[in-house]
Amino acid sequence: MIFDTHAHYDDEAYSADREEIISSLPASGIGAVVNVGANKASTGSSLALAEKYDFIYAAAGIHPSDVMEYENGTADTSWLEKCALAPKAVAIGEIGLDYHWDEPAREIQKKWFAAQLRVAKKLKKPVIIHSRDAAQDTYDILAAEGGSDIKAVIHCFSYGPDMARRFLDLGYYIGIGGVLTFKNAKKQKEVLAEMPLESLLLETDCPYMAPTPYRGERNSSLYLPLVVREMAVIRGITESEIEEITFKNAMDFYEIG
Ligand code: NI
Repeated sequence: MIFDTHAHYDDEAYSADREEIISSLPASGIGAVVNVGANKASTGSSLALAEKYDFIYAAAGIHPSDVMEYENGTADTSWLEKCALAPKAVAIGEIGLDYHWDEPAREIQKKWFAAQLRVAKKLKKPVIIHSRDAAQDTYDILAAEGGSDIKAVIHCFSYGPDMARRFLDLGYYIGIGGVLTFKNAKKQKEVLAEMPLESLLLETDCPYMAPTPYRGERNSSLYLPLVVREMAVIRGITESEIEEITFKNAMDFYEIG
């Protein structure tokens, strides 16, 4: 069975067939999904999906690209605290830093990242980290806010083995999805080859990041067997071992069951 640790089934990409695709997952070997919020609206939708489907859980948080919508001189997290206490809210996320674009200003992203990390620490919730082109600042803020006292996954991991080792040393998990199957995914393959398997989480980030041969198309958890196959080849173990290990890791990380 497969655990998709990071999905966005609330996305408008599923407007036409959301129920159909979600309902088809369990029969296709997808045993659990965490639907991840990126702002207040998608956190609300994630919680609603978790209410509706047994096998869906939710994460609550504001993505670095969405913080300007709520910025008013402070980073008010009272809303987040409330959401994170919902029965099926298993994590804070996705939160972090995205320096790929010039906006929002880095200082504002950092403030929201740190403020949301403090909520996670206070509520003892695991954190889903979005970090793009911002490895050092991500590391520094995590270290300053508690380091190994925080339980975190660096989702859609895009850095090299050296950076992976630093996050792994803090006890963090590495999230890997469709990118692993891309021809040019040299770094991801290196990271996976070297890392301890008990720190690996399997994810889609759907509707984004569809694996080869569906690259660029709408992704879903149904394509995860393609990622599992690539992982099995890189690690020299069977696909069912990969499924079993990553399922257990996800249950441990999200503290389910
Ligand atoms: Ni995401």
